[in-house]
Amino acid sequence: MTTYYLTTPIYYVTAKPHLGHAYTTIIGDALARWHRLLGDDVHFLTGTDEHGQKVQDYADAAGKSAQDFVDEIAPLYEQAWQRLNISNDDFIRTTETRHKLGVAELLQRCYDAGDIELDVYKGKYCVACEEYYTDDELDPGDLCKIHKRPVEYYEEENYFFRLSRFEQRLLDWYAAHPGVIIPEFRANEALGLIRGGLRDFSVSRTSLKWGIPLPWDAKHVAYVWFDALANYITAIGFGSDDTTEFDKWWPARHLIGKDIIRHHCVYWPAMLISAGIEPPAGWAVGGWLLSGGEKMSKTSGNVVNPLDLIDDIGVDGFRYYVLAETTYGQDGDFTYEGLIGRYNSDLANNLGNLLSRVATVVDKKCGGIGPAPRADSPLATAAATAYEATAEGWVTVQPSRALDATWQLIRATNAYLESNEPWKAEPGPAVDTVMGDALEALRIVAILASPAVPATSQIVWERIGLSGDINDQRLPVAAQWGGYPGGLSVTKGEPLFPRR
Ligand code: MSP
Repeated sequence: MTTYYLTTPIYYVTAKPHLGHAYTTIIGDALARWHRLLGDDVHFLTGTDEHGQKVQDYADAAGKSAQDFVDEIAPLYEQAWQRLNISNDDFIRTTETRHKLGVAELLQRCYDAGDIELDVYKGKYCVACEEYYTDDELDPGDLCKIHKRPVEYYEEENYFFRLSRFEQRLLDWYAAHPGVIIPEFRANEALGLIRGGLRDFSVSRTSLKWGIPLPWDAKHVAYVWFDALANYITAIGFGSDDTTEFDKWWPARHLIGKDIIRHHCVYWPAMLISAGIEPPAGWAVGGWLLSGGEKMSKTSGNVVNPLDLIDDIGVDGFRYYVLAETTYGQDGDFTYEGLIGRYNSDLANNLGNLLSRVATVVDKKCGGIGPAPRADSPLATAAATAYEATAEGWVTVQPSRALDATWQLIRATNAYLESNEPWKAEPGPAVDTVMGDALEALRIVAILASPAVPATSQIVWERIGLSGDINDQRLPVAAQWGGYPGGLSVTKGEPLFPRR
């Protein structure tokens, strides 16, 4: 069985979960669900990033200890993901013991390899990025380009990770692993960073207490990025006595935002190579979800709380919008009008309407019992094409294309009904044939749409009379034309997506 280990970034606990965080998490969830349908052995990880200066500053401002502060915020992420029907197999918090042990082990291995050394650092540091910058990387007035806030001048004795030694090794590794970073233009960005020359980066702080101590020099705590990146291996048991899980799952596929390419595609593989661990199996790099033209973030004050939106259009309405609206890799713009527009057109008018029409006609003309499809239905080709293109969309991490392909089958089925007008015909074999075909198309649609709208897909499944958990279906067999057996009770029920 193929193993598929997928990770999201771990989110800073300085802010409550917002749409920007939900974006990557929902994409990860849909991918994990798709791969489970393919029969892969899936492990989907998300979590929270809880150490570092920024968290300490927020805790101070709130008048709380750092531990109390993170203990209040981290559960908000777990709750938000439950509410959004995220099927993560694990949730890692960087304040957990398993993580601390693994980070210590990773640091020690890089230190023993001679790639971590003591030096003095003087430089300009953006606390929000947790990153040192050179003058040419800053905006005038020493402002961080991302946060538009002044950087701070730091001077301290630090341990450094000798990233400069890894330039050629990284280039060679990437050359030997084409296509590991998608989309391709993001791969070029990562390679550009490496070709532009690599500077050693500091991996410890003495000024900070809120972090994991270096195992050989406890005056220092680990730099938050070194700590954070390690979550991908500590969560599966790296640093513990039992390496079964690690051996089973590693290497991972990482979903990241474009702002953290340097850390994930440059620092992280170098750290792993130094520690004698294989680099990741892949990276999919997303753009930002913008709101009013700016990255949605707490600092910009344009945060949309995903949980508020669910109240308006339901969990699946929200998931669908996030997945269908933007091209993965590019930035996307969030608008409330866009959200409602998509909901009404794709969910209420297309999917919802198809199910309700089919159920109504089966009720009136087929005595409520769904007929079987015919083998040579004109919809069979549409279904085969939809499956191929949907699969291609998910495997290339292009959710909007995958969903568009699935929705082509919905549109084709609606068009098929409109041209046959079974609602006008007398009950009999002709109506049965058309309705059997439509029910079979709905069965396939329900499976293909389930990574995006899992609860809705299960409802469609049951309304057309099928039993069991739709998640137990296995592709590609389940998408083959002819699986609807006929003779099942079809129920009309409430509208799936009432118009907004
Ligand atoms: N804690 C680090 C990641 C460590 S991973 C080892 C971090 N956290 S974050 O909460 O600030 O952001 C995590 C991810 O969420 C980033 O990839 C970032 O791009 C993504 N997003 C945060 N806001 C976003 C949008 N408005 N739109 C899309 N993604 C956004 O960075």
